Amino acid sequence: MKSKYVFLIASIITLSLVGCNVSIKSPTSDLGVEASTDNETTSDDISNDNNTENQFDDVDSQEEALMIVPTILETFSEHNLKVGTCLSPEMINREETEELIRTQFNSITMENALKPDYILNKKKSIETGDIVVDINSDVIKMLDWAKANNMAVRGHTLIWHSQTPDWIFYEDFDTSKELVNRDVMLSRMDSYIHQVFDFLIDNEYSEIFYAYDIVNEAWNDDGSMRESNWLATIGDDYLWHAYNYANMYAPDNIDLYYNDYNEQYKSNALVKFVETLVDDEGNYLIDGIGLQAHLYTNDNINSYFNAIEKLSATGLKLEITELDVSLGSWNNTLPGSDDNLKVQGKYYYDFINKLFEHIDSGTLNMDSLTFWGFCDSMSWRREASPLLYDDSLEPKYAYYGVVQLKNMCGY
Ligand code: GLA
Repeated sequence: MKSKYVFLIASIITLSLVGCNVSIKSPTSDLGVEASTDNETTSDDISNDNNTENQFDDVDSQEEALMIVPTILETFSEHNLKVGTCLSPEMINREETEELIRTQFNSITMENALKPDYILNKKKSIETGDIVVDINSDVIKMLDWAKANNMAVRGHTLIWHSQTPDWIFYEDFDTSKELVNRDVMLSRMDSYIHQVFDFLIDNEYSEIFYAYDIVNEAWNDDGSMRESNWLATIGDDYLWHAYNYANMYAPDNIDLYYNDYNEQYKSNALVKFVETLVDDEGNYLIDGIGLQAHLYTNDNINSYFNAIEKLSATGLKLEITELDVSLGSWNNTLPGSDDNLKVQGKYYYDFINKLFEHIDSGTLNMDSLTFWGFCDSMSWRREASPLLYDDSLEPKYAYYGVVQLKNMCGY
């Protein structure tokens, strides 16, 4: 496995970067790199090549001439952070993407496969009269792959208003009947959470998990509780019960997380909320807060970090769980022009740089960051080009921003 790509600038070298070709022009040219180019040598390249002799006249130039483009994994490992991507079965079925993930990341979150819609079995629930968790072969395939490739896993997600089957909330699991009462729903929640962790323990997968999103997106931006059938059947304390059950059944090595989006707007509500997740002795039933970080290039990085600092003051761990940076703003996404992609490259550079500053100074208790994918064509927000590789798996300015190569990310 090639883990570093060494570029000798004196001559134009084109190297293969896990399915991507990167060609370098000159260390002294303004940008120095065409982040995603084909293998053709241009007339520009040739004229730069002619300057080689002068460039190597002094030691500084020689040092500059040797540039190392680290992998994402190497970049994050230097700050003791795991770095991950969301994972779908297609990504490991395709050789190119499978290799890219193995080379660039050391953590995965299943994009969909562990969501309630995919792991709850209606037929078996009706037959047994209890909610039944039935983990499918996609999950098992991805867990076996993760295990074989030393990938750590974030579990995502148990209690959510979305991608959750309606029938679990109804009498006899029949949506034509009434919603069940609080006691029945609490006992279904108990059984559901218990079965998921038992499955992981019994099948020797639990040791590769380091975090689990017990609840996803329970709060609105205005600080009110989001409507859901969990809330309708159990009442306001459904969140407390979810963490109480998770504490009873999850092995100690798995941190229990609350995960949400627009975290920069709802941080006050989240701080108040996690303070309620305590046992009789006042100990937290939760270990951390997951920050989805579905951002836009127009979002203000300083305000984002102000919110992070507020959340960090709870004493809980934080993880960035679904990072992607779309071009523009939520109501006006921009096309993937070279200029816009440079803005995105700088944004990734600044964001990750600030994050590392916080981590290194010990002001954030964070152990991992997960990108919500790696290439635009496989992203849920593909129209807004939010990720690090383009549709042909060529690294974008965004990639260079993430690996902290300032001269190559659009600056
Ligand atoms: C939310 C969820 C994720 C995923 C994205 C869209 O952020 O937490 O699981 O569904 O939306 O891909």
